[in-house]
Order: sequence, then structure tokens, then C-alpha cells
Amino acid sequence: MDRLRLTLRRLNIGKRTKLLHSYRGLIITALLVLPIPVQPAWSADPTPSSSWFVDMSRFLKSAHGSLTCERCHIELTAQGKVHPNREDPTAMKKVVVRSYDYQRCASCHPEAYKRFIEGEHAKELAKQKQAQSEGQEQPPAKLAPTCGDCHSSHYVQSKRSRVELGTQMIETCGKCHKAQEASYLKDIHGRMGVFLEKKASAYCTDCHGAHTCESLKDKNKALEACRRCHKDATVQFAGIVIHTGKEDISKKNPEKQASMAFVGTIKPIAQTMTIILLVFFALQTFVWILRELHRKLRGR
Ligand code: HEC
Ligand code: HEC
Ligand code: HEC
Ligand code: HEC
Ligand code: HEC
Ligand code: HEC
Repeated sequence: MDRLRLTLRRLNIGKRTKLLHSYRGLIITALLVLPIPVQPAWSADPTPSSSWFVDMSRFLKSAHGSLTCERCHIELTAQGKVHPNREDPTAMKKVVVRSYDYQRCASCHPEAYKRFIEGEHAKELAKQKQAQSEGQEQPPAKLAPTCGDCHSSHYVQSKRSRVELGTQMIETCGKCHKAQEASYLKDIHGRMGVFLEKKASAYCTDCHGAHTCESLKDKNKALEACRRCHKDATVQFAGIVIHTGKEDISKKNPEKQASMAFVGTIKPIAQTMTIILLVFFALQTFVWILRELHRKLRGR
């Protein structure tokens, strides 16, 4: 026993422990006071910059502000799914717009849902989901929109004016149809509706339908759309090209591609002819003035 104590004393261990004891209080205080990041970089609760953050003051002012969260979310656990794991950073990064079951909207918005399901976008979405379930790895070049791509379920406002709705939606459609947005803004309807804010003009959805989003390649479909405002429109009138950009004309529309290609070649020729004619007349007038001057100076 004595020998052990002797060795310990020789090794100075007792003193060291005492020293450690007197520092312990200090270390603990420092840990409490200093802002040491004890939480990992991804916080368990979403921060305001996270897409998972629900801003309650904006939510309560929205069209859905009077609904409880469970009206739209209860099925999450009811269908045997579990709440996303708060400790798992990848769960917070999931794109919910792709996985939410928007059929739930149908209980309150049956018309909008029905039209969407019948429309072009839902058909494309079904195709993309089919390809995905068959194990296609490459994501499609252009994703088809779900309700959530065009509407913010938490913050959507009701009773927006026609101009407000129209201009907001052009940005939404333009995210995926850039070329058509650009040509629409150059068209008479775009200039009137967006730049002059005239509500009589046509926005994307007036011609294509908000939820059906019809292609309008078909002349009779286009005529139907024009007649909503141009009451005595004819088939020829409906044939007037709205989207005149080269990249606007669908490859599925060979007839219109041919006519736009024709316009494309004719245009520079016509422009050159006009310039040549103008120069010719200007020269002729100049020579004529010279001759008159010459005659006057000779005193005749
Ligand atoms: C009108 C239906 C509706 C109501 C009411 C609603 N949500 Fe949502 N919520 C959705 C939809 C739809 C999504 C999927 C993403 C999208 O479309 O914006 C979503 C997504 C979410 C997400 C995933 C992250 C995100 O924002 O995409 C969270 C978290 C969430 N909701 C929480 C809530 C909470 C909390 C409430 C109640 C204060 C609530 N929701 C009320 C429809 C609703
Ligand atoms: C491609 C974009 C787009 C998609 C996808 C879309 N909407 Fe809409 N939605 C619009 C636009 C644009 C309006 C504005 C009204 C208009 O222009 O006629 C609108 C209006 C609405 C309205 C209010 C007017 C009405 O018709 O009752 C509701 C409700 C609505 N959408 C629900 C939905 C639901 C539910 C889905 C999914 C099934 C959906 N929307 C998908 C673009 C879209
Ligand atoms: C419990 C019923 C209910 C459910 C479920 C619901 N909504 Fe609504 N929604 C409403 C009510 C009520 C309004 C406000 C209508 C008004 O003010 O005219 C509204 C308004 C809207 C509007 C704005 C319409 C406008 O005036 O411009 C859109 C867009 C919309 N909802 C989309 C959705 C989408 C997308 C979903 C599914 C994620 C959904 N709603 C689910 C009840 C519901
Ligand atoms: C998230 C992307 C996305 C958004 C937002 C979107 N679309 Fe589309 N749209 C598509 C895809 C993908 C197709 C499938 C055909 C294609 O590749 O163009 C399509 C097809 C169409 C078609 C039919 C074209 C055809 O070849 O049959 C029309 C018309 C159309 N969209 C109009 C609109 C309008 C109007 C809006 C806004 C209210 C809108 N889209 C919003 C992705 C989108
Ligand atoms: C005045 C009516 C009108 C307006 C407004 C309009 N379009 Fe079109 N759109 C048409 C017609 C008609 C076609 C058929 C092809 C053509 O004539 O260019 C078409 C074709 C399209 C196509 C291609 C369809 C295909 O088969 O390839 C898309 C996508 C499209 N429009 C999107 C939009 C978007 C996005 C907006 C708003 C920024 C918009 N359109 C505004 C009338 C309109
Ligand atoms: C929502 C209403 C609306 C729809 C739908 C619509 N237009 Fe127009 N359009 C207007 C307004 C408003 C003007 C401004 C001149 C006027 O008062 O006639 C206009 C002007 C025009 C003009 C300029 C010459 C003129 O007649 O004044 C052309 C060309 C035209 N539209 C073509 C079309 C075609 C083609 C379609 C169908 C693909 C179409 N529009 C669909 C509202 C619409």
C-alpha cells in the first residue's frame, strides 16, 4: 500500500488531478458562455430560409388561412407513412411538389382538378411518372407541372385582380415555356395586357385554358379560343400566328413550320428591295435638284 502511494506521489498524479479539479469549473463556465456550435450545421427545425419553413403570419392571411394543417396533411401517417425524420438532413431537402398527393385538393376544388386531369400537363406528368416507375434514370428534360408548381398552397391569395393573376402566371408559365413567353410579350395581347395592364386583353390562360392548357395547334380549337373575344373570327383569323419566334413552332406542326420558314426567307428580301428603292428615289431627287439649280443659275 505504502509502495503504491509512493509511486503515485512520484508520478505526481494526485497533484495533477487536483489541478484538473480546480480547472473544471472554469472549463464548464467557458462552455456555457462561449457560443460553441453544439448543433450540427443542419438544424433539426427548419430555419426561415428553408423551403420547409411555414411562415404562419403569411399562411393565416392566405386563401387557406382558415383551414387547419390536418385538412391537407392528415393522410401522411394515416396511409402508413411516417413523419419525415427531423434528424435526417436529406428528408428536409426532398422536393415535396413532386411527392404530395394533389388528389386531396379535389375534395374542395373538383372543377379545377377535373380540368387539370383532362389537360396536356397531366398527360405529360402521367407519362413521366410511368417512365420513372419503369426505372428510367435520366430525369426528363422538362418536368411537367403539378398543382404546386403553379400555386403556393400555403400562401395563395384569393380575390386577386385579373391583371395581377395574368401577369403573375406569365412568370409561372415562362419558367418552363421561355420562348413562348418572349413572343407573347411582343404580341399585341402581351403588350396590351402586361405593359398597358388592359384587362380586356388575353393572357396565356385565356387562349390555352388555365388547367386544360390545350396546344391550339388544331385550327378549330384555336378558333374556339379566339371567339371568346373576337366574336366574328374566321378560321383565317385564328390562323394568325401568336408565337412568332423560330423556336416557338412545334416540330409536331410541319404546316406552320413551313409557312414560318417562308416568312423567314421573304423578310430579308423584302427589306433589301425597300432599301434599294428608297436609295434610288433619293438619288433621283438629288439629281433633279441639281438640274433645276443649274437651269436657274444660267438665268433661263
Ligand atoms: C390547402 C392545403 C394545405 C394546408 C391547409 C397546409 N398545407 Fe402544408 N403543404 C400543402 C402542399 C400541397 C404541400 C406540398 C408542396 C406544395 O405544393 O407547395 C405542402 C407542404 C408542406 C410542408 C413541406 C415543406 C414545404 O413547404 O414544401 C410542410 C412542412 C407543411 N406543408 C406544413 C404545413 C403546416 C404546418 C400547415 C398548417 C399551418 C400546413 N402545411 C397547411 C398543402 C397544405
Ligand atoms: C400550369 C399551371 C397550373 C396548374 C398545374 C394548376 N393550376 Fe390552378 N390555376 C392556374 C391559373 C393560371 C389560374 C388562374 C385562373 C385563370 O386564369 O383562369 C388557376 C386557378 C385556380 C383556382 C381558382 C379558380 C378556379 O378555377 O376555381 C383553383 C382553385 C386552382 N387553380 C386549383 C388548382 C388545383 C387543385 C390544381 C392541381 C390539380 C391546379 N390548380 C393546377 C394555373 C394552374
Ligand atoms: C378544405 C377545403 C380546401 C382544400 C382541401 C383545398 N382548398 Fe384551395 N381553397 C379553399 C378555399 C375555401 C379557398 C378560398 C376561396 C375564395 O376565397 O374564394 C381556396 C382558394 C384556393 C386558391 C385561390 C383561388 C383564387 O381565388 O385565386 C387556389 C389556387 C387553391 N385554393 C388551390 C388549392 C390547392 C392546390 C389545394 C391542394 C393542395 C387546395 N387548394 C386544397 C379550400 C380548400
Ligand atoms: C414545370 C414546368 C411547366 C410549367 C410551369 C408550365 N408548363 Fe406547360 N408544359 C410543360 C411540359 C413538360 C409540357 C409537355 C410538352 C412539352 O414538352 O412542351 C407542357 C405542355 C404545354 C402545352 C401543350 C404543348 C404541346 O406540345 O402539346 C401548352 C399549351 C402549355 N404547356 C401551356 C402552359 C401554360 C399556359 C402554362 C402556365 C399557366 C404552363 N404551360 C406552365 C411544362 C410546364
Ligand atoms: C391570343 C392567344 C394566345 C395567347 C395569349 C398565348 N398563346 Fe400560346 N398559342 C396560341 C396558339 C394559337 C398556338 C398554336 C401554335 C401557334 O399558332 O403558334 C399556341 C401555341 C403555344 C405553345 C406550343 C404548343 C405546341 O403545340 O407546340 C405553347 C407551349 C404556348 N402556346 C404557351 C403559351 C404561353 C406560356 C403563353 C403566355 C406567356 C401563351 N401561350 C399565350 C395562342 C395563344
Ligand atoms: C381574352 C380576350 C382575347 C382572346 C381570347 C383573343 N384576343 Fe385577340 N385581341 C384582344 C383585344 C382586347 C385586342 C385589342 C384590339 C381590339 O380591341 O380588338 C386584340 C387584338 C388582336 C389582333 C390585332 C388586330 C385586331 O383585330 O384588332 C389580332 C390579330 C388578334 N387579336 C388575334 C387573336 C387570335 C388569333 C386569337 C386566338 C388565337 C385571339 N386574338 C384571342 C383580346 C383577345
